[in-house]
Amino acid sequence: MAFELTYSLCFLLILLHLPLFTTSQPYQNISLGSSLVAQDDDSAWLSPSEEFAFGFQRIGNDGGFLLAIRFNKIQKNNVVWSAINGSLFQKGSTVEFTVDGFFIKDSETGNQQFISDQTAANGVAYAAMLDTGNFVLANKNSINLWESFHYPTNTILPTQTLSQGNVLYASYSETNYSKGRFQLNLQFDGNLVLYTTHFPLDTLNSGYWSTKTEGSGFQVVFNMSGYIFVTDKNGSVVYTVSDSDKMASVKDYYQRATLDSDGVFRHYVYHKSNGSFVETGTRAWSTFSFQPPNVCIAIEDRGPGPCGFNSICEHDDQGPTICRCPQGYTPIDVNDERKGCKQKFIPQSCDESSPESHGFVLAEMPYTDWPNGDYEHFQPVDEDWCKKSCLGDCFCAIAIYNSDQQDCYKKGIPLLNGRNDNSTPWKSLIKVGADNSTSKYGKKKEISALVLVGAALMLIISYLLIFIITYLFFSRLYSKQAKTSDLYPVVQGFNLKRFTYMELKEATEGFKEELGRGGFATVYKGVLASDNGKGVAVKRLDSMVRENDFEFKAEVSMIGGTSHKNLVKLLGFCNEGQHRILVYEFMTNGSLSSFLFGNSRPSWYQRREIALGTARGLRYLHEECSSQIIHCDIKPQNILLDDSFTARIADFGVAKLLKMDQTRTTTRFRGTKGYVAPEWFKSLPVTVKADVYSFGILLLEIICCRKHYEENMQDEEQMILADWAYGCYEQKKLHLLIKNDDDEAKEDIKNMELFLMIAFWCIQEDPSLRPTMSKVTPMLEGNLEVSVPPNPSSLYVLSK
Ligand SMILES: *[C@@H]1O[C@H](CO)[C@@H](O)[C@H](O)[C@H]1NC(C)=O
Ligand SMILES: *[C@@H]1O[C@H](CO)[C@@H](O)[C@H](O)[C@H]1NC(C)=O
Ligand SMILES: *[C@@H]1O[C@H](CO)[C@@H](O)[C@H](O)[C@H]1NC(C)=O
Ligand SMILES: *[C@@H]1O[C@H](CO)[C@@H](O)[C@H](O)[C@H]1NC(C)=O
Ligand SMILES: *[C@@H]1O[C@H](CO)[C@@H](O)[C@H](O)[C@H]1NC(C)=O
Ligand SMILES: *[C@@H]1O[C@H](CO)[C@@H](O)[C@H](O)[C@H]1NC(C)=O
Ligand SMILES: *[C@@H]1O[C@H](CO)[C@@H](O)[C@H](O)[C@H]1NC(C)=O
Repeated sequence: MAFELTYSLCFLLILLHLPLFTTSQPYQNISLGSSLVAQDDDSAWLSPSEEFAFGFQRIGNDGGFLLAIRFNKIQKNNVVWSAINGSLFQKGSTVEFTVDGFFIKDSETGNQQFISDQTAANGVAYAAMLDTGNFVLANKNSINLWESFHYPTNTILPTQTLSQGNVLYASYSETNYSKGRFQLNLQFDGNLVLYTTHFPLDTLNSGYWSTKTEGSGFQVVFNMSGYIFVTDKNGSVVYTVSDSDKMASVKDYYQRATLDSDGVFRHYVYHKSNGSFVETGTRAWSTFSFQPPNVCIAIEDRGPGPCGFNSICEHDDQGPTICRCPQGYTPIDVNDERKGCKQKFIPQSCDESSPESHGFVLAEMPYTDWPNGDYEHFQPVDEDWCKKSCLGDCFCAIAIYNSDQQDCYKKGIPLLNGRNDNSTPWKSLIKVGADNSTSKYGKKKEISALVLVGAALMLIISYLLIFIITYLFFSRLYSKQAKTSDLYPVVQGFNLKRFTYMELKEATEGFKEELGRGGFATVYKGVLASDNGKGVAVKRLDSMVRENDFEFKAEVSMIGGTSHKNLVKLLGFCNEGQHRILVYEFMTNGSLSSFLFGNSRPSWYQRREIALGTARGLRYLHEECSSQIIHCDIKPQNILLDDSFTARIADFGVAKLLKMDQTRTTTRFRGTKGYVAPEWFKSLPVTVKADVYSFGILLLEIICCRKHYEENMQDEEQMILADWAYGCYEQKKLHLLIKNDDDEAKEDIKNMELFLMIAFWCIQEDPSLRPTMSKVTPMLEGNLEVSVPPNPSSLYVLSK
């Protein structure tokens, strides 16, 4: 019997001039005893039309073989079914169809795995690859005992139906047919649901799309006309999944509906004569319809989603789901985007003393949301506050901000379900190391590898010992050097824009309108065309500034890292050739100097608010920002007023850019003395208390609305404001100081006295007697008691 079968098969093959086991065989009933071998010429059993083939197919260039049903006339993405959950088999493995069943024999292990269950094989007479793409085992009465259509993998074809309990498994990737992260279930309750799974387990995680046909759904039908729908028991349509009305002529197309590895169930078509051309010039499937409408938004639960952890999913109406890594992140595996992204920088350390606890910035990603995994929520807060909160928090990897609601969420690693979507009101602020180059990681890895190799060599070849020790010593030294130079942040990131010189020249119309001029810089008014005509103040520093490009960037990034409502914000800079330019937001109400000493005396209420604002801004610079900033030049010209007359300190941080340090000499300050603390003239260290001194003088000016020194005074005693004010205070003649003031000031004389006392404390000659700004602020607010100040006037003997 066996001999006869073999004989007749050989006879047939010879008749058709086909060599044995090499090429695809034309249609015939596949008889018992037939087999196929996995080898380089894809051997297969074809359907009568030769449009479908059943057989081994090599995956990749040197990968194993998949046993699959495929579209035989299409080269790419042609697999519609695979055996043994997409397992790969070695070359030489066979699929055999015998009285014992239908099974695969692995050439390496010799293991047999059944494709059909064994009971189905009872009474099998022949097998056949049908023109529908269904591979069947039938008995001698042509009744199908087993069909591949009843055991779908990730695809259904026209004429195929899914019954309750059937599941489609997404494959892991386009080239790896093992089970991936998604399932399409026609449940026993009749609902058709897309689920994420607890990959690599098959168990269900959560549903992200369904037909909502519980109670009515019975079957999923993919009919010849290319409709996909859910029917009830009587065959009536209860839900349409894909509707091919628009397809001109169904016969001209191949069709398939596949649950893709990104979790989208797509109905694809392929024109039989010409396919759809893609850019590469190869023919391809085109997407006819798909569910869910936007997989990036639909999937919203624990797990990696379509793109993996830390990555951003973007939905494209026409084609595939796009996965990207956010700024500062890179794919874990460039060949497998589903694995997600990793940080390119060393994450922020929670150890304050560690170098990795500083030097981070937040990169802005508009229309980007990460709806899950938040560990803190603040509302209502402004964006700056949200940014600061994340920057200062070592657990925070990203902050999500919604300006409509003033909502701020903080999230840690890994980031879940990132999506980019133009309709979202959310904006992401992602923390990246200011130096996002991979060099640090690279070096560390190299070195640890070297250590390992070195250790091995030492054990084996002892005479190499000295050489290795020397080598390691030098490579360690190198790594240390690399590390220290990495400590300084390079100017990078969201809050500082790098302008070109030409851009700023245009913005200022060739540096035309001068706003002010100082010893080291000139300020011009500018308008940024690139930013909706936003007004800016453009400050050109002259040649005194540090030549060292690196230090300049470090200082500028430090200034850029500050954020407080009483500081003028630095928007960007230009560092081109010899040009060193800082770009600030424009303050509409000018400087405190013109406000205080102008024609009309501002109200006491406004002055009080300005004094408080200035004190708060200074306290921030001294004590609250990431590295302490001594202003060194507090004076009314450097306090600007915004739209709402809030005091905003300008020019902070510039002192360091200008190398203003203890080498300053008295001669430079002839004529501007007054704001300058006495320690500048002595060889004493200059600390934040120098700013406190200047603030004290400024406070006196704010109280009395006059300059600290006025030469043309009839009464000589009144020339120096500090002396005169102290005299009035001592003799309880405060009304003299506010003779021309508003009624409000006169009624608030107690507070004015308090402000005066604070000012006198601030201008003590001995820096240690002056309060810090964190004391001055609550004193001004009335929350900290102020004792009687000693006479500060001795100072003026010294400075004259
Ligand atoms: C296959 O075998 C069945 C049953 O023996 C028979 O009815 C059918 O005609 C055969 N088909 C072909 C194409 O040989
Ligand atoms: C294929 O997957 C199904 C469902 O998880 C499982 O029941 C079956 O045992 C798997 N088959 C093989 C050969 O691994
Ligand atoms: C396919 O993906 C699975 C799941 O990640 C993995 O275990 C398997 O090694 C992959 N196979 C190949 C050939 O890459
Ligand atoms: C397929 O289904 C659609 C919608 O129910 C129907 O209009 C069409 O006639 C069906 N085609 C076939 C071949 O059954
Ligand atoms: C389906 O058939 C059953 C009986 O076979 C009938 O009672 C029911 O009304 C039918 N449903 C519809 C929607 O026609
Ligand atoms: C190629 O396919 C398109 C549809 O994809 C069809 O409109 C066009 O007529 C076809 N061209 C030829 C030459 O067959
Ligand atoms: C940091 O990343 C951004 C965007 O990925 C890139 O444009 C920039 O050049 C990188 N900077 C460094 C220093 O690597």
